[in-house]
Amino acid sequence: MSDESRPSPAAAPPGTPVAAVIPAAGRGVRLGPGAPKALRTLNGTPMLIHAVRAMAASRAVSLVVVVAPPDGAAEVKSLLDAHALPERTDFLVVPGGESRQESVRLGLAALPPGHDIVLVHDAARPLVPVDTVDAVIEAVRDGAGAVVPALPLADTVKQVEPAAAPGGAEPVVATPDRSLLRAVQTPQGFDRATLERAHRTVTDDVTDDASMVEQLGERVVAVPGHEEAFKVTRPLDLVLAEAVLARRRLNDGF
Ligand code: C5P
Repeated sequence: MSDESRPSPAAAPPGTPVAAVIPAAGRGVRLGPGAPKALRTLNGTPMLIHAVRAMAASRAVSLVVVVAPPDGAAEVKSLLDAHALPERTDFLVVPGGESRQESVRLGLAALPPGHDIVLVHDAARPLVPVDTVDAVIEAVRDGAGAVVPALPLADTVKQVEPAAAPGGAEPVVATPDRSLLRAVQTPQGFDRATLERAHRTVTDDVTDDASMVEQLGERVVAVPGHEEAFKVTRPLDLVLAEAVLARRRLNDGF
């Protein structure tokens, strides 16, 4: 049977080693000028280190692959060396590519054999709680080809057509049923062989990895996401992230 027509993955056994790939090669222009987004600090610690710790917090994750800006792999390696990380987890750094998709593909290519479940997690989501990470892993173990953590939408969503002139009013053409829409986060979890096949097969531009698996016709499921797994995109998100960290410190004090 050809690799491209394999059946859906069977449920992975409980001890299946899990690797996390963290694409961190984006410039993050929407945050304003400065260092690459993943290297911006939150309470004095680079966002990337928060994201790496969030993945390594799961006892199931035995390897974290960080995909660094193409000219920044050495800097990211020394950053990992300079921060305390769990000893039971291995770390690898590889240079990234032009697009997020390319960066994830390069991270996947660096995975040694044996890690049959793969998480893909944005460095830009530094505060995802470990329970969310574990829920994603659990759903992959239960047999889904891809798993996304997802939240219901607070806002009503409109579909629009392009404005006649740049900056002009956009005609609204539809209002999708909000109760059936979800905002998806990371880490997204995958049966490794399914994700590798998606990266070999799908060449369209995509904004997440699960949509590539959808295009293969594999089963993709959503599990509850978490409000603290938001993506740090705009300057206000940095303020929110520091507030979350301050709240955690307070709660840890009790
Ligand atoms: O740009 P966006 O916020 O969607 O990026 C999501 C994640 O993908 C970020 O963690 C970013 O560093 C990463 N990325 C990457 N390589 C690129 C572009 C984005 O690893 N070329």
